[in-house]
Amino acid sequence: MLRRPRRNRQSDAIRKLTTETHLSSDHLIYPLFVVDGAGTKEEVSSLPGNFRMSLDYVLREIEECVSLGLDRFILFPAIPDEYKDKTGTYGYDPNNFYLRMATKIKEEFPEVCLISDVALDPYNIDGHDGIVRDGKILNDETILQLCKMSIAQAAAGFDILGPSDMMDGRVMAIRQDLDTAGYKNVGIMAYTAKYASAFYGPFRDALDSAPVEGENIPKDKKTYQMNPANKREALIEAELDTQEGADFLMVKPALNYLDVIHLLKENFELPIAAYHVSGECAMLIAACQKGWLNYEQAMPETLLSIHRAGADAILTYFAKDYAKLQKFGKL
Ligand code: PBG
Repeated sequence: MLRRPRRNRQSDAIRKLTTETHLSSDHLIYPLFVVDGAGTKEEVSSLPGNFRMSLDYVLREIEECVSLGLDRFILFPAIPDEYKDKTGTYGYDPNNFYLRMATKIKEEFPEVCLISDVALDPYNIDGHDGIVRDGKILNDETILQLCKMSIAQAAAGFDILGPSDMMDGRVMAIRQDLDTAGYKNVGIMAYTAKYASAFYGPFRDALDSAPVEGENIPKDKKTYQMNPANKREALIEAELDTQEGADFLMVKPALNYLDVIHLLKENFELPIAAYHVSGECAMLIAACQKGWLNYEQAMPETLLSIHRAGADAILTYFAKDYAKLQKFGKL
């Protein structure tokens, strides 16, 4: 045998030399669920190790993450029902705690990168990312609301906005409004290929944001989120988001869509982000809790696979644990 691939695997020293993909916590973004008030830290039962936190706990959490070298966060608000309405007006209300929280975080930690969520579902009584009328999700009317939310978030101090709603044309509308309002340096991480996935369950539990059951309310998000069977359609979405001025193209979920991540990486120059979503993380946590998998091995392998597929940035509920493993030399 002339070729013995095992020669390059025979020692740790040689394996290091031939390692093709390196993942550092510099590529990770940590999602945080936030609530109004003070003194709240409640675990999300379907996503153990993740909490709904009020500002006081959020600041402590960010401080700890920064000490681990993790300084990028995406915030998702849980909104009390009394603030919800048909068009999500609380999303840009000057008293919105989410906006005030972002300002406070940036005051305390100006160096961290804060990413927002732009969508109506936390604020909408119907639990949809857009305005519902006569059983339909209105695209253009929703965009007007998303633009107002975006300006309010930029004013609050978010560095990057994350439109997660999948309305057509929203990236361009948001970009134009941001520029007109003078927020030229506020970026857009577009949820480009976001699929109508069954893996968002724990997230919707955390925020109580699932589509509401009722007459004339679509029971799922299939008219705006993408069909899991489709890959080429992701190229159309990516082309549009690129033309419309996005700074990042996101694929979501990540693990079941590694082929889509790879496809966008091969075809576009913008940085590719992947959202390793709540249900994907919950499966692994559950198996580890049962003793069926080893967390310190299975978790880094999972994140590595997303990076290897082509994701430059990974949004994952494991970001902090990964940063810990890295800091303590356990990777
Ligand atoms: C909604 C939104 C969702 C997630 C992020 N933003 C849920 C949905 O589309 O229903 C899911 C993230 C996760 O599951 O971790 N705008």
